[in-house]
Amino acid sequence: IKKIAVLTSGGDSPGMNAAIRSVVRTCAYHKIECVGVYRGYEGLIEGDFKEMNARSVRGIINKGGTILKSARSKEFRTVEGRQKAHEALKKAGVEGLVVIGGDGSFTGALIFNQEFGFPVMGIPGTIDNDIFGTSHTLGFDTALNTVVEAIDKIRDTASSHNRLFFIEVMGRDVGHIALNAGIAGGAEEILIPEEDLGLDRLVDSLNKSRTSGKSSSIVIVAEGDKIGKNIFELKDYVDQNMEGYDVRVSVLGHMQRGGAPSCFDRVLASRMGVKAVESMLGGETNFMVGLMNGKMLLTPLDKAIKGKTKINLELLRVSDIMST
Ligand code: F6P
Repeated sequence: IKKIAVLTSGGDSPGMNAAIRSVVRTCAYHKIECVGVYRGYEGLIEGDFKEMNARSVRGIINKGGTILKSARSKEFRTVEGRQKAHEALKKAGVEGLVVIGGDGSFTGALIFNQEFGFPVMGIPGTIDNDIFGTSHTLGFDTALNTVVEAIDKIRDTASSHNRLFFIEVMGRDVGHIALNAGIAGGAEEILIPEEDLGLDRLVDSLNKSRTSGKSSSIVIVAEGDKIGKNIFELKDYVDQNMEGYDVRVSVLGHMQRGGAPSCFDRVLASRMGVKAVESMLGGETNFMVGLMNGKMLLTPLDKAIKGKTKINLELLRVSDIMST
């Protein structure tokens, strides 16, 4: 392989820029050419490429978002779209593709490889941490820190006004952000899709903590949780079934995806970029790089997509004990 392309696809996450930088610089180190693809698979189809060298990625390790921009491409889901992308890559002399993104992006990469035999390698970039084969996806740690900072701020108001706050956090269908940030933010309850607490038990538990002397409470609600599906209805229900609390809702939204990546995410991104490029140069294809027990390892892309990440049950128990 003499030329590698790198793109970011799907929702942006902090650390994507650090990963782009790492891919580009690892290519430079091994004297391989590198091109950046703008707007994910959209740009791949249109041949929107830019030659990149070690200096093109200066000053971005600390920046959130992605300098290559990102998109969720409908056209790449069609054979015609992928055909065009393949032609654009061939025309540019590219022989390998590094995709930084989530499971949707990896599904596209895998199909592309199956159709054209084109070497692909994935770097997991999403705040949701919902990808099998890595203990941490890029951006997860930063998002957690952002959420905990927000919870700390909301707590000031909660305790000053004796309020109960429902705080909705992102995570799509999984509760990794909610569970970890909930423990770190000292939440009373954490509602996640993986565990069905039920409305009555929630109200019961909140009532108990109220009578045990707590004057304010924070409940973290994962956006994918079933009873919290509509957080405003949840608030109304609790309002009607509880005495003594002034109840408020705060939906954190996209602020969770932005900001400078944490030290952890910068180091992870740097390691992942090196591993992705060097694995490709060593002839590996169709893998995702991941962090497991402190080590970089490769997981076949199809496993990374299909495998389920599991909520750490120990964390659930810790959270229960902490809200005593
Ligand atoms: O996958 C990242 C994520 O931020 C999820 O947590 C969230 O459900 C979704 O993307 C939001 O997507 P969009 O930015 O398209 O609204």
